Formats: sequence, structure tokens, C-alpha cells
Amino acid sequence: MADERLIVALDFHTIEEVREFVTELGDSVSYYKVGMELFYSVGGSVVSYLKGQGKEVFLDLKLHDIPNTVAEGLCALMRLGASILNIHASGGYTMMKTAAVRVRKQAAELGIQPPKLIAITVLTSINEGDWHGLGQTVEIQAQVVRLAKLAKEAGLDGVVASPAEAAAIREACGSEFLIVTPGIRPVGSAVNDQSRIASPAEALRQGASHLVVGRPIRLTDDPKEAAEKIIREMETVPK
Ligand code: C5P
Repeated sequence: MADERLIVALDFHTIEEVREFVTELGDSVSYYKVGMELFYSVGGSVVSYLKGQGKEVFLDLKLHDIPNTVAEGLCALMRLGASILNIHASGGYTMMKTAAVRVRKQAAELGIQPPKLIAITVLTSINEGDWHGLGQTVEIQAQVVRLAKLAKEAGLDGVVASPAEAAAIREACGSEFLIVTPGIRPVGSAVNDQSRIASPAEALRQGASHLVVGRPIRLTDDPKEAAEKIIREMETVPK
């Protein structure tokens, strides 16, 4: 029943909550996202736990530092077995290129499949005020596409983006590029603090390859049914 295009966000602070939630969702979900709050609370053991359950992991730690530090950080994280890791595109071409080359070299040495490396372009929380405060003069969307192209040129596998940006990125970066979109809200569910949202089917139609969904599944009376409903909607859009 699982659809590997659906990545469920584990926004918890304890391993007990994770175990309970993952057990409840069972075979309906095969891909989970571990972000800063969970990783900083419980460490790498959560990735080992998920791998032990046969799940894939997107380790969403958004690294941003000088090229050598990011590359070494990723090489350390890679040993945990996540399928996707991410870094900030605003760290620049050299940082992204160094990361991509070093991660693949290390994976080959370890005899493992290299993780997919994706970039944050412009955080979806950045509004016009924040943007101009940073001294930026181009439009946000133009900068998103520019950074997505730079990430591709540097050898990265894809980007995290809002559904509103997915079509322009797909057009600029081609059919194989990963576009992972949060901000997914099935019709009728609470918007919470997300602003640029789309339904699951709409996000896929806009060009998303993976959807990250948190509260619309976690904060329901029946998370398994909520996940399965989203999957049924996703399956109306061919892979
Ligand atoms: O609960 P919700 O579906 O909004 O969760 C979305 C998840 O994606 C959260 O873990 C959030 O931190 C993450 N995320 C996001 N926007 C980004 C990057 C990550 O909402 N630009």
C-alpha cells in the first residue's frame, strides 16, 4: 500500500513517540523524515531504528558551512544509512560540488549506495520582508530557480521546494531531478503555519517527486487512515 513518493515527517522529541507512530502506520508508510528537533534530541539511533523497520530515511539537517566541514559532516551522517541528506544551496557552488564529490567517493569506498543529496534553495518561510532585509533585489522565485540550476550543475540530485515553485524547477532542471515539497495540505485539513500550500495530487502535478507531510497525518484521530487517504489521492497521478 505504501507509496515511496510520500515522506512522513517525524516531528517528535522522543524515540518512544516515534516507535508508537511508526508502528501505528505500519506498512502504509515506507519513508520518514527526521529533522533537527528529533535528531538533536535522540541522535543517530532513530535512523538505525527506522532502517531496522525496513524504512527509508530523509535526514533533514540542512547543513551550511565551509566546503570541507559540510563534506566531512555528510560523510559522517552517511554512515547512518539515510537515503536523502540535504545542504543549503546558498553555501555556494564549491560547497555543493565538494559535498557531492566527497560523499560519492566515500560511498564507493564503503561499498554502499550513495545517499541522494538535495539542496535547500530559499527557505519557504522567507517572506518578502525577510527577503529584502537580506539585501536581495531579484524575485524570490527567480532566485529559487537559479539556485536549483546551480545545485544541479554542482552534481546534486535535487532540491526541497514549495509546491508553488515545483513547476518552474521541473522545467529548468529536467525530469530526473528530485523535487521534495513540504507544505502539503489535503483538501479540508488545517493549514497551520504553512503559507504556500497544495493538495497532494496538485503538488505531484506541479512536478514534485516526493511530498513531505507532517501534521495532516500526525495530528489526526486515525493517522493510518489519513496516510492511506493521501496515498489514494497521490495514486491518481501516475509516477
Ligand atoms: O506538519 P507539516 O506537514 O507542515 O510538516 C512539514 C515538515 O516539513 C516539517 O517537518 C517542516 O519542518 C518541514 N519543512 C517545511 N518547509 C520547508 C522545509 C521543511 O515545512 N521549507
